[in-house]
Amino acid sequence: MPLIVGNWKMNGLKADGTLLAAGVAAKAKGNLGKGREVVVCPPFTIIERVQSKLIGSGVGLGAQDCAPKESGAFTGDISPGMIKEVGATWVILGHSERRAGHGESDALVRAKVEAAEAAGLTTIVCVGETLEEHDGGRAKDVVARQLQGSLPEKRPARWVVAYEPVWAIGSGRTAKAEVIGAMHRHIIVQLQRRFGKLDGVQILYGGSVKADNAREILSIDGVDGALVGGASLKSEEFWTICSAR
Ligand code: PGA
Repeated sequence: MPLIVGNWKMNGLKADGTLLAAGVAAKAKGNLGKGREVVVCPPFTIIERVQSKLIGSGVGLGAQDCAPKESGAFTGDISPGMIKEVGATWVILGHSERRAGHGESDALVRAKVEAAEAAGLTTIVCVGETLEEHDGGRAKDVVARQLQGSLPEKRPARWVVAYEPVWAIGSGRTAKAEVIGAMHRHIIVQLQRRFGKLDGVQILYGGSVKADNAREILSIDGVDGALVGGASLKSEEFWTICSAR
């Protein structure tokens, strides 16, 4: 069943965040479970408010990052258990904005994934090449290295990998269907080599997914859903993506 995840990034104060959550919940009520799974990932500060709006809608709730530890002297960090306690069950990890903007290495992402899984969160691990790596023909090597370094030894019962070419994020420039399809096949091969069976894994595409291209993207072989940034901030557009088929 395709999975659509809305990554709100650093957007959403109490008022607009709850309005957006209520909008998504209203559209989802009675319509989920019919071939779509939907998750929203608001900023930490409004997770509880968003949760109260999602009750009964079937829409899942996630965070956008977590610490690799459960507690301790880590000023500014939020632990997986804290996220779980406020009602979220998902977490996005290794997003390129954290890898680039906060210097997160594959090893750190892996430690976060392990901590999140130990706390019972379902992880969405992001990989993807920069424009320079793409133009230099290194995309597949980069993604293979990120998968190797960021995923834990033991595969969890349910896990999600998101392929997000950095040059397609927030740029309005979506990767071509052949490029997405080829990379998703490459990811599947890498995961099979390492983990054998691929039960319980879904591979999402992210990067300028919008209402007008969602259908095409979601129909590509090997694409099990989408990670949506900008277009998840308007409930109408987000819902059009969620219901694209
Ligand atoms: P975008 O972001 O849809 O705005 O390109 C996607 C993401 O960064 O997850």
